[in-house]
Amino acid sequence: MNKCVFIYFLKEGDRMKFVDTHDIKPGMILAQDIIGKYDLIFLTKETVLKKENIEKIKKMNISYVCVKEESENIDEELSIKLKSMPDIKLSNPYMKSLSEFKKIYEEVGLGKKIQVEMMKSAMSPLIKEVIEDNNILSRLRKLKVVDDYTYKHSINVCILSTMIGKWLNYTKNDLDHLSIAAILHDIGKSRIDSRIINKPDTLTKEEFDIIQTHPTVGYEILTQEEFNMDICCGVLQHHERMDGSGYPMKAKKNKIHEFGKIIAIADIFDAMTAQRVYKQKESPFKVAELIAKNRFGVLDPHISNQFLFHISKFYVGNIIRLNTGEIAEIVLVNKQMPTRPLIKVNNNFIDLYKSLEYEIIEVLV
Ligand SMILES: [Fe+2]
Repeated sequence: MNKCVFIYFLKEGDRMKFVDTHDIKPGMILAQDIIGKYDLIFLTKETVLKKENIEKIKKMNISYVCVKEESENIDEELSIKLKSMPDIKLSNPYMKSLSEFKKIYEEVGLGKKIQVEMMKSAMSPLIKEVIEDNNILSRLRKLKVVDDYTYKHSINVCILSTMIGKWLNYTKNDLDHLSIAAILHDIGKSRIDSRIINKPDTLTKEEFDIIQTHPTVGYEILTQEEFNMDICCGVLQHHERMDGSGYPMKAKKNKIHEFGKIIAIADIFDAMTAQRVYKQKESPFKVAELIAKNRFGVLDPHISNQFLFHISKFYVGNIIRLNTGEIAEIVLVNKQMPTRPLIKVNNNFIDLYKSLEYEIIEVLV
C-alpha cells in the first residue's frame, strides 16, 4: 500500500522542513497540524513530539511530517529535558484567590463595599506561597489559566509586587499592605464601562481620559473604607513615573510612594508578557530590557535593578529560542546585565553580554 504524501503550503519566512517519519526525533516541534482519520486533527501545530507521539505517527502510514527547522538544534540533553518537564497544574491558592477576587471586583463594580477580611483570607495562602517559595514565578509563568485578563492580571501583579517587596527586605506587615495595594491596583476600573476597559481597538481621546481616572477612582473607593494610607497611595500612584510623565497627578521622584513604584514595574512586566486577543506576548527578556532602559528617568532605578537581577535568576535552566531560531539553555545570569545571560547551544557557550547579535525571543520551558 502506498504511503499518503502530505503537501503543506509554506508561508514565506517560516522556518520549517519535511522529515521522513522514520527520522522524527523526540523534542522536534510540529510546524503544521497532522490530520488523521476522518479529517480530524491528530496532533496540533507546536506540539513538542514525545516518544509515544512518534510511535503513533509511524503507525499512521504517512511519509513525512512538517517540523520547525530549529528543532534540529535541540540536542539530546535538551530533548530529554523538554520531555521530562512535568505538566504544571493550576495551583490551588492561585485559583482560590482568583475566584474570590473576581467576586469582590464585581461587587465593587455594583457599588458594594470591599469585603476586606474575606479578601485577606482568600489571599493569605497565595501570599504565603509567594513569600516561602522562591520558585513561585516559574510556576506562575507555566500556569495556563483561562479567565478574564483583568482578574488574572491583578493576581499576577500582586504576586510580582510581593516578590519585589521580599527582595527589598520588607517586613511581613509591609508585605501584607503591599500585596493588598497590588491586587487592588486596578479596582477603579470596576466602576468604568467594561466596553471601554476591554476595547481591543485604539481608544479615542475621550475613552483614554476615562481610563486614566481609574487610579483616582480606586483611591476614592479605598479611602472611603479606611484602608491604610500606604495601600491607598500605592493604588493612586501606580501609573505615576519618576520623570512626571505619568498620571493622574504627574507626580515625580520622591513624591511617588514606593508601593506605586513597585506596582508600576510589576504592572508593566505582566501586561507586556501576557498574550491578549489583539497583541502577541513579548518575551520576558525583551520586557526586562525595556525596564532596564527605563530605569534611569522613568522607573525607580533601585527597585528596577533588584527586579531585573532576581527575575532573570528564575530563568536559569530554562529553554529559550534565539532570534537565529536556535534553541538554547540559560546557564548563568550576568550580574552586570541580567537580561543577557550566558547560554548553552549544542554544547557551545555563548555570552549574550558580549554577543549582542543574539536576542532571546521566547522562553519555551
Ligand atoms: Fe492601572
